Amino acid sequence: MKMPYVCLGRAGVKVSRICLGCMSFGNAEWMVEIDKARPIVRRALDLGINFFDTANVYSMGRSEEIIGELLRDYRDDVIIATKVWWEMGDKPNQRGLSRVHVTQQIEASLKHLQTDHVDLYQIHRWDYDTPIEETLRALDDLVHQSKVRYIGASSMWAWQFAQALSTSDRLGLERFVSMQNHYNLCYREEEREMIPLCRKEGIALIPWSPLARGFLGGKYRRLERPDSARYRSDHWLPERFFRPEDFDVLERAEEIAKEKDVPVAQVALSWLLHKGVTALIIGATKVEHVDDAANSMELKLSDEDVRRLEEPYKPHWVMGHE
Ligand SMILES: NC(=O)c1ccc[n+]([C@@H]2O[C@H](COP(=O)([O-])OP(=O)(O)OC[C@H]3O[C@@H](n4cnc5c(N)ncnc54)[C@H](OP(=O)(O)O)[C@@H]3O)[C@@H](O)[C@H]2O)c1
Repeated sequence: MKMPYVCLGRAGVKVSRICLGCMSFGNAEWMVEIDKARPIVRRALDLGINFFDTANVYSMGRSEEIIGELLRDYRDDVIIATKVWWEMGDKPNQRGLSRVHVTQQIEASLKHLQTDHVDLYQIHRWDYDTPIEETLRALDDLVHQSKVRYIGASSMWAWQFAQALSTSDRLGLERFVSMQNHYNLCYREEEREMIPLCRKEGIALIPWSPLARGFLGGKYRRLERPDSARYRSDHWLPERFFRPEDFDVLERAEEIAKEKDVPVAQVALSWLLHKGVTALIIGATKVEHVDDAANSMELKLSDEDVRRLEEPYKPHWVMGHE
């Protein structure tokens, strides 16, 4: 298999269509430490994956440290994305997107990642206390200081993202090149506003949790008591999915996976690729998860397959903008 590379929206940099999400490297019960992360990262590199996503808040810096250590020898060949916004302590300035917090956090991330620059620096959420002008000026400064190559954004309301884009255009500041949003077969609310906005503005779409935190991985059954490390220790998994309507979607995907004789995860990932997103930010706790993601790029879905996969979807409450 030859890994396809695409431009990150209007930016010239090329990224693999599979991005390895590194939230699963760290110290919660469902995550893996560096010994188990090493073969996962190795397989990703062997498959041609050059795009890695983490955040300052993932295991409070441990995810960045693991990825910094494992990618140190490949630094010039990989695109490293990290994020800022989440609270990193209980003091008033240890959260959000003020110039103070952004400037402090980039230094912490660079140290953890053992590098002098981050390729894609993303705002993890919207900061209701800081004017977007202040955040954009702080990010623009980081680009001019060569600490950051490109800037991106993550889950927020479409009106907020539109405001941010028009503000950077008005002030002649660096513009967000990517939107990392919550999008998968069980959560499609982003199709209403955010995705059309991004398409119109030439913004790369790099969805997170493409398997609905593992719900679409084939491990869970309707009316069976769920039991997995992630179910027990990632409270967002049971809170966000497991509605009867989500099982309707899962069972339809399983039906199609059976017809095609592939794992259901491949069908769910392939559907997203067929929707034209730039790159999928996958989560992996085993080497085989990376293999499945790579194989999903070869899985063809017909228009009828796509229609059947989408048919059972029922609107979901908004998730990911908190
Ligand atoms: N910007 C944001 O706010 C935000 C939020 C969440 C995540 N993210 C990013 O998105 C990345 C991915 O998130 P995620 O972990 O929630 O993604 P996901 O792909 O929806 O879920 C990953 C989980 O699915 C299961 N899985 C993965 N591949 C599988 C396969 N081939 N077959 C069966 N099961 C499979 C594993 O569960 P088990 O471990 O239980 O086997 C794995 O932990 C994160 O690492 C992070 O970089 C960003």
